[in-house]
Amino acid sequence: MEIIILPDAAEVGRVAGAKIASIVAGRPQAVIGLATGSSPQGIYAELARRVQAGSLSFAEARGFALDEYVGIPADHPESYASVIAREVVAPLGFDPSRVRVPDGRAADLAAAAKEYDGAIAEAGGIDVQILGIGSNGHIGFNEPTSSFASRTRIKTLAPKTRQDNARFFDSPDQVPTHCMTQGLGTILEARELVLVAQGAGKADAVAAAVEGPLSAFVPGSALQLHEHATVIVDEAAASGLRLSDYYRYTYDNRPDWQRFE
Ligand code: GLP
Repeated sequence: MEIIILPDAAEVGRVAGAKIASIVAGRPQAVIGLATGSSPQGIYAELARRVQAGSLSFAEARGFALDEYVGIPADHPESYASVIAREVVAPLGFDPSRVRVPDGRAADLAAAAKEYDGAIAEAGGIDVQILGIGSNGHIGFNEPTSSFASRTRIKTLAPKTRQDNARFFDSPDQVPTHCMTQGLGTILEARELVLVAQGAGKADAVAAAVEGPLSAFVPGSALQLHEHATVIVDEAAASGLRLSDYYRYTYDNRPDWQRFE
């Protein structure tokens, strides 16, 4: 795992954006795993800046969202279908027909979840999966005790997650109780993982995921099983890490072939 500690949230977005850009520049048909929430917004801003400057294009790329709420209409402004359309597809210039979001409104949710994993496989798998992390250690909506072998499926949101996401809704009781999320097993099949976290509220989750024991209780610790995972955090989110001096030394002395900015 590569851990990159940067001074602030703006730098996290810039550097993580540069990493995604380098992958898409090398493979314009890349399949990107798309996260929602506040954490990846800086990445999308950096990518949109490059698209506007004409140095990057997502016209041939494909996208698969990580997760979706169950029980709110697709046109609800906070459905992840709406968020992905507004914050990713439009600003980055994706072809909307090449971007999918799990169908949280399907009559047969279990079948829709299975079909979603099949569609990812049919697209050739995900080249790079963008991830945030919840304050309780979840990735996607894989709440604590999610199996490392889990596939895309329905989950019940933890009370802490509903509380954290209440800021996006008019009132806390409007936050859906269920979701459909790529499983940890699905996420681990992506060829590369890039997780970003900002702020002191994520410090415990980042430390547990990166340096704690491998445990389904901390779903983010699944990254330790991946051969190509990069964790990009600001100082505040890094404040619980014990080996931060080593991570800084490693990044400062990285060989040229490892540079993507
Ligand atoms: C959300 C999403 C996750 C996200 C995480 C952190 O609810 N389902 O994909 O990474 O929780 O959210 P945020 O980035 O807003 O802190």
